[in-house]
Amino acid sequence: MLEKLEGAKKNLQSDTKAINTLEGAEQLKIKYLGRKGIINDLMKVIPTLSAEKRAAFGQQVNSLKIEITNSIEELIKRLSTEAVPKAKTEIFDVTLPGKRPFIGKSHPLTQTIDDVTEVFARLGFDVAYGPEVESEYYNFEALNIPPDHPSRTDFDTFYIKDDVILRSQTSTVQIRIMERQKPPIRIIAPGRVYRPDTVDARHSFMFHQVEGLLVDEGVSFADLKGVLNQFIKTYFGQNIQMRLRPSFFPFTEPSAEVDISCSICGGKGCSVCSYSGWVEILGAGMVDPNVFKSVHYDAEKYTGFAFGMGVERITMLKHGISDIRLFYENDIRFLSQF
Ligand code: PHE
Repeated sequence: MLEKLEGAKKNLQSDTKAINTLEGAEQLKIKYLGRKGIINDLMKVIPTLSAEKRAAFGQQVNSLKIEITNSIEELIKRLSTEAVPKAKTEIFDVTLPGKRPFIGKSHPLTQTIDDVTEVFARLGFDVAYGPEVESEYYNFEALNIPPDHPSRTDFDTFYIKDDVILRSQTSTVQIRIMERQKPPIRIIAPGRVYRPDTVDARHSFMFHQVEGLLVDEGVSFADLKGVLNQFIKTYFGQNIQMRLRPSFFPFTEPSAEVDISCSICGGKGCSVCSYSGWVEILGAGMVDPNVFKSVHYDAEKYTGFAFGMGVERITMLKHGISDIRLFYENDIRFLSQF
């Protein structure tokens, strides 16, 4: 019987060491102090012993019981105080930095479209949209682009099937709006365009344009210059210069390509502006009378101007971004900077 008692004493030590959960401690309590536990087993033996052995053994069992009760109580206390401070820190330590929720924002190209839209909205322009899947009529014919024009080959335009293409310019929206509305017209039309270009730092098979169109009585080239100058100064800054170069587009006459003084080097010359001090940002001109004919406008009564600018291009110039592909790679480290 004494052996059993000593054994229980020894086991108690290793048992309490092995336990590290409150649940385990409860089970240990049952094992030693429960109704069918070790202590009770030993108690049952006491009445069977001879009178002289009984007192001594009884005392030993009793002190073992106290020892077990104490150490299990201590174990429970330790385990529960260990758990509590942890929970407390998580909830109450106001000195720890908080967890910032990740807040998303607009893509830099969307931001540019919003900014450009805002500048033109202040000048009285409405926003218009057109489909990205187009017919040759809206992308070419109505815009005075003849059937043999190089831009109509499948090197320069994506053909889905005969007469179903992906628009290669937002100028399609000029026609769609003029078909539906009478002058005065004052719209800008942002959106995606597609061209079968090989992707590199400056080209992409898909990019964005913002088209502008203003038609009314007595609109002159001076109005075009005034509006573009206002836009450029507002969007790029008052110190940026504008320059118009004569150019050609089938749907405008006269036509111009519009440059701004290089915003990267300030016009001194750098790799972005090919050391010329100027970078092209848009094409523009006075609406060709043949375009008015397509939409049944009286070209004797109305005149207008149109322009189209590259959204990627102006975003890259404004922020000094050197590779167009960065816009499409969904790299949050790049995108979150804007
Ligand atoms: N659509 C022309 C382009 O994509 C730009 C342009 C628009 C030029 C309107 C003149 C007038 O290059």
